[in-house]
Amino acid sequence: MNNLDRQLKDLVAENTILVDFFNDEGIDYCCGGADTLGKALEDKKKETKPFLERMDVFIEKAKEERKEKGELNVYDMKIDELIDHLEETHHVEERAYLKQVDEDLNKILIVHFEHHGELLLKLHSLFAYLKKELEEHFVKEEKITFPMILKDYKDGNITKETLKKVEELEEDHEGAGAVIKEMIDLTDHFEVPEDACFTYNRAFETLHTLVEDVFIHIFKENSILFEKLKGEADEKAS
Ligand SMILES: [Fe+2]
Ligand SMILES: [Fe+2]
Repeated sequence: MNNLDRQLKDLVAENTILVDFFNDEGIDYCCGGADTLGKALEDKKKETKPFLERMDVFIEKAKEERKEKGELNVYDMKIDELIDHLEETHHVEERAYLKQVDEDLNKILIVHFEHHGELLLKLHSLFAYLKKELEEHFVKEEKITFPMILKDYKDGNITKETLKKVEELEEDHEGAGAVIKEMIDLTDHFEVPEDACFTYNRAFETLHTLVEDVFIHIFKENSILFEKLKGEADEKAS
């Protein structure tokens, strides 16, 4: 099948390197993962041929770099290894980004209120909501759902209770994705104004980094961890 007719989530599942490429190109493989690449390009008004050429070049380059760095392949990880990986990387790093953006946004809201007050007030409130949601979500994963998954995995019996909890996490992910989309629209992809100071730039850059990390994080949970878990449950049931 032609790549243009394939769903974004399948393309990324087959080749995780595409996560970075789609992030760079502003293609939403995370919440819009069910769309085909063709549709996503049409929506973004991107020309197909040059896009596919850029994609090939990116994949080749990234593969070489990954080989050199000996990077981990999350697809090969077992469920318990994946959970460790998610907590040790995305949860830790995103908490740090949240803290940084929180401080910076508050500062620029005060300093730049006169010229950019309207946008910054909206962004401040969207961010406050996202921060609360993510912080509570991480702790739910760490304290409730991941331990349930680990226990079931160890027992070789994925229970309905655990799968129900996983569904709740998936709903949280969708909610976070929706707030992030609002932020992207509001800031026109984290574009800073001409009079932006150092803190303004850092706030927007860190927010952008946070958002990209959240997308990769959600993708790993929804499309790798939870899929593996559901696979184990189906195997047991059949
Ligand atoms: Fe997580
Ligand atoms: Fe999550």
